[in-house]
Amino acid sequence: MTATWLPTLITASPEEGYDLAVTLSRVAVRKTQPDGEVRARLRQSYDEDFGALIAISHVVATNFRTVAAANDYWRS
Ligand code: HEM
Repeated sequence: MTATWLPTLITASPEEGYDLAVTLSRVAVRKTQPDGEVRARLRQSYDEDFGALIAISHVVATNFRTVAAANDYWRS
């Protein structure tokens, strides 16, 4: 991951903004657990855990809120 992995929060569409929100969320996980093998092991525990999936949706929703605000809700 480079220093420029997040050059801007501005996106062309809400859909791209949502994808950025997912990326922001995943980067947080990568930064807190840099070991890919550990992440791969833990993935098996969360991808069929409805509580974890709801929690993930919440994290993404929070990030999407930030991205949407940065883009003035794509009004223009
Ligand atoms: C895969 C999102 C948390 C480990 C994925 C994918 C998404 C995603 C969308 C599918 C990517 C694709 O198939 O192209 C998220 C979000 C998270 C989160 C939004 C938190 C807010 C975690 C955590 C771990 C993890 C906590 C483990 C510590 C993985 C791994 C894969 C994966 C290893 C790759 C699975 C594969 O390629 O088969 N995640 N994830 N993720 N996630 Fe997460």
